[in-house]
Amino acid sequence: MKIAVVGGGSTYTPELIDGFTRFTDLSEVVLIDPSAERLNIVGPFAKRLLGKVSWTDDLDAGLDGASIVIIQLRVGGQQARISDETFPLECGCIGQETTGAGGLAKALRTVPVVLDVAARAAQRAPGAWIINFTNPVGIVTRALLDAGHRAAGLCNVAIGFQRRFAGLLGVSPEEVTLDHVGLNHLTWERAAYVHGVDRLPELLADAAQQVQLPVEVLQRLGSVPSYYLRYFYQHDSVLAEQRKQGTRGEAVAQIEAELLRLYQDPALTSKPELLSRRGGAFYSEAAVGLISSLLNGDNAIHAVNLRNQGHLPFLADEAVIEVSCRVDRAGATALPTPPVLAPYSGLIAAVSAYEELALQASLHGGRDRVYLALLAHPLVGQHDIAERLTDRLLAANEAYLPWA
Ligand code: G6P
Ligand code: MN
Repeated sequence: MKIAVVGGGSTYTPELIDGFTRFTDLSEVVLIDPSAERLNIVGPFAKRLLGKVSWTDDLDAGLDGASIVIIQLRVGGQQARISDETFPLECGCIGQETTGAGGLAKALRTVPVVLDVAARAAQRAPGAWIINFTNPVGIVTRALLDAGHRAAGLCNVAIGFQRRFAGLLGVSPEEVTLDHVGLNHLTWERAAYVHGVDRLPELLADAAQQVQLPVEVLQRLGSVPSYYLRYFYQHDSVLAEQRKQGTRGEAVAQIEAELLRLYQDPALTSKPELLSRRGGAFYSEAAVGLISSLLNGDNAIHAVNLRNQGHLPFLADEAVIEVSCRVDRAGATALPTPPVLAPYSGLIAAVSAYEELALQASLHGGRDRVYLALLAHPLVGQHDIAERLTDRLLAANEAYLPWA
């Protein structure tokens, strides 16, 4: 089995490679990245961790014959992220790389690039599964599926809860089955079953701290929202915090510079502690688990981004949702769940409609499409704000949007 990693020069790559040591039938990993400078640091370190690793800036050559193509790219790097986290603040909106106006900017830059990569993969690695980690994962995965690719979207939020809950309950992660429901970065854990018993109620106090929300919110909902729900449930206080602090992108840029320095030390043969200060905990385990199920058909449960197909009856069939799924060689199938009620369904439906409009804007461009996506977003909603955000977004992203 050959795995190609597009965006392989990421400082996250050693995390992924660390997980790959568990594959027994892996013949080759190719890291593909336009930055030779990063490849020449991350590549040799990845090779020290796993062996069988090569690297290239030639996309077609790197994709050749792969069974799995992981896409984890970031168009514009941390500089573009810092912009996404900053321009909405002046309009009274939170600055975040996947939620709200920042997430739209990221989608606009990213969707065409990922579709181009996938089209090349279809030529060079026909039949390969595309595992998409590229944010915003819901919108990017929808674009891949609409273009006819064999793709599944992945995020580490669910596996993070599963691992945390298992640790607190003193059981193995495989014994915890989550009722994870929503859209990427807009999810709730409605239950955590251990041998058929829902243990979530005893986990709420710890979870509230993890997601930085008051415990009453979790108690009244009877579920655990992801950390990203803070941007909705505490929008104004998060905005006030963001206005005082530097951006996450700036902090990450510093961590990355230090990681790249550490990776160059030939004596380093395991992933450094500093990597755990990035948000991607367990993302390699999520990838390894999903890849094993897709290739070996083991029917294990994973949280996957896939088409709705009636699972949430209030959404279009073609919409992409993120839910607990059973996965075999044919792909992911959503596990049956109790009805998703009004405290969730209204927000999910609104954000799903925004995602649809964001995808249209990403595919076809045009100021009006950008404006409409912003107007539909529940964190924007007002005409004046949508107008101002549109102007700022387009001005900041001109270099990436040929139509702007
Ligand atoms: C979580 C999210 C990812 C996101 C990451 C950001 O893991 O699920 O989608 O990319 O956080 O982490 P960072 O260290 O870049 O802030
Ligand atoms: Mn994610």
